[in-house]
Amino acid sequence: MAIEQQKELLSDAFDIFRVASRKLEEQYSTLEEKIEELNSELAEKNRAMERTRRLAAMGEMAARIAHEIRNPLGSMAIFSTLLERELDGDEERRKLATSISRGVKTLDNILSNMLHFAASPGARYRTVDLTELIADSVQMTQACGKTGFEVVHCGSTELEADEGLLRQLCVNLLLNAVDSMKKGGTVTITTRLDPAGTDTVETVEIRVKDRGVGISPENIDRVFDPFFTTRSSGTGLGLAIVNSVVEAHSGSINVVSTPGVGTEFIVRLPRHEAK
Ligand SMILES: Nc1ncnc2c1ncn2[C@@H]1O[C@H](COP(=O)(O)OP(=O)(O)O)[C@@H](O)[C@H]1O
Ligand SMILES: [Mg+2]
Repeated sequence: MAIEQQKELLSDAFDIFRVASRKLEEQYSTLEEKIEELNSELAEKNRAMERTRRLAAMGEMAARIAHEIRNPLGSMAIFSTLLERELDGDEERRKLATSISRGVKTLDNILSNMLHFAASPGARYRTVDLTELIADSVQMTQACGKTGFEVVHCGSTELEADEGLLRQLCVNLLLNAVDSMKKGGTVTITTRLDPAGTDTVETVEIRVKDRGVGISPENIDRVFDPFFTTRSSGTGLGLAIVNSVVEAHSGSINVVSTPGVGTEFIVRLPRHEAK
């Protein structure tokens, strides 16, 4: 073979080798990127596991404390109601007794939240009248601020659900709405059969809309996280409970908020228990 020909062959072989080696380099760096991705995924999973472990431990402790506090709180509720009755006619002092009752109710709600949170509720279904349930929840919340409530029921408002859990959901959404409107205003609660539901899966929709401070875009993804709160006296459990109640009913929840304008929570629940 002529020297020229051998040189050409060698140069071709080098070219092939260069291409192959470049490809290998590319594959190597893709592999490196993949490993980095997997590593950070693993780190995130580890953090999530650690969070879950800590939450479980805190949940257990919270449940124990809540049980201990519940009994004396029950007595306080009875005595403050008796005191209110006793002071009927003495407006000034009756108001003080009413403040105690209100405080006790708020504490009781916090405890219920902790207990529900620790117990990860499963729903016990029966037919619930939303009109009654929302009227009850409004009454429970009314005492907590200068807020007015407007309730709009469009069409039938009965559904199969766990009444206690659903009340917990409504009260928490209403309390948050009231908290967000320190200067007062109106919270609008709307219920309707969701037109997006199908004949086989009818869906009930509950909307709670306030004209409060709103939620900033950087916080909106975190509001359902347990213990996330921006309030000095908040527990960050309200929306975590709301979310777990929605999950227990195989429903969905969305939030739409504009800072300075207000917030709307939209809950959708199947009208009938899935068999
Ligand atoms: N209607 C609302 N308007 C504005 N912010 C809200 C509203 N509902 C919830 N949030 C935000 O979500 C956070 C978590 O709410 P929640 O879980 O009920 O806990 P908490 O009320 O104890 O702070 C609140 O601290 C607040 O920042
Ligand atoms: Mg709350």
